[in-house]
Amino acid sequence: MASVPSVTFSNNLTMPIVGLGTWKSKPGEVQTAVETAIKAGYRHIDCAAVYGNEQEVGEGIRNGGVDRAELFITSKLWNTKHHPEDVEGACRQTLKDLGLDYLDLYLIHWPTAFERGDDKFPKNEDGTVRFAMIPPMETWLAMEKLVEKGLVRSVGLSNFNSEQIAEILAKGKIKPATNQVECHPHFGQHNLIQFCKERNIVITAYSPLGSPDRPWAKPDDPQLLDDPKIKEMAAKYGKSPAQVVLRWQTQRGVVVIPKSVNKDRIAQNLDLFNFTLSEDDVKVINAFDHNTRLIVPVLDGKPRDAAHPHYPFNIPF
Ligand code: A2P
Repeated sequence: MASVPSVTFSNNLTMPIVGLGTWKSKPGEVQTAVETAIKAGYRHIDCAAVYGNEQEVGEGIRNGGVDRAELFITSKLWNTKHHPEDVEGACRQTLKDLGLDYLDLYLIHWPTAFERGDDKFPKNEDGTVRFAMIPPMETWLAMEKLVEKGLVRSVGLSNFNSEQIAEILAKGKIKPATNQVECHPHFGQHNLIQFCKERNIVITAYSPLGSPDRPWAKPDDPQLLDDPKIKEMAAKYGKSPAQVVLRWQTQRGVVVIPKSVNKDRIAQNLDLFNFTLSEDDVKVINAFDHNTRLIVPVLDGKPRDAAHPHYPFNIPF
């Protein structure tokens, strides 16, 4: 089994550069996917409370049969749990669901808080989501306490923009280990990667395959893995299009968490370390960027949090 390289956080802890994504993995499928992944050599599993599948993911982790200490497990605090008094309880619930006594990494899933409570999508009468005005910094200070309590080894962010990261860096005690964001050749995140690199923050790419199964995909959206140039490159290296785009990320130090529930594709997505893209091919893929997000949350056909004062996507990066 090929060994998988790791990245090192600013706190000197390490994270395997490939993890299994579990967003959109349905109950009934995800347990087997996690177990299969661990048996195929994955040591990093990316989870979140809002995916609604952490109990099954936990089963899969146990069935994987690998010591807890060898695994790297990430989860994320949901938007309804941003109030500082709710953070520890949410983390403990995730630990209970996963059947673990600590997380390797816990992220604030989005900077946008929703109204407190157990309804993950609390609604106003007009069907829009009911927001809460909790500054992300207040939530971050509660996240830091989880490290002090030993519930999580590292803390980080997800979907934060550069200004929001800068505020955390200026006012927090702990540097975020990573910012997990949408990132693939069509949305290369070159500026945010540079910003984070200069501050020793790892970038984790979600939807690294362009998320073909995202719930709001339209039939005429470009399909990254069907792109003729990527296909041509894949044939040249004797790899699949998915392996080419994942290798492009890991070659520049970006962590990838491709989601799959298929045994062959799970194995394929880890098999990235026996070839190297040439500098010219890297440039070709870099030029794919057209700075358009695929992942802009929508609920019942309407933008979910675009009207939130802490919405992260209103500035260039
Ligand atoms: P499946 O779960 O059936 O394998 P992303 O991680 O960008 O969100 O992409 C996930 C989507 O890509 C899922 O539809 C997944 O389907 C599919 N997928 C995962 N791995 C591969 C692969 N190696 N080749 C093609 N499609 C893949």
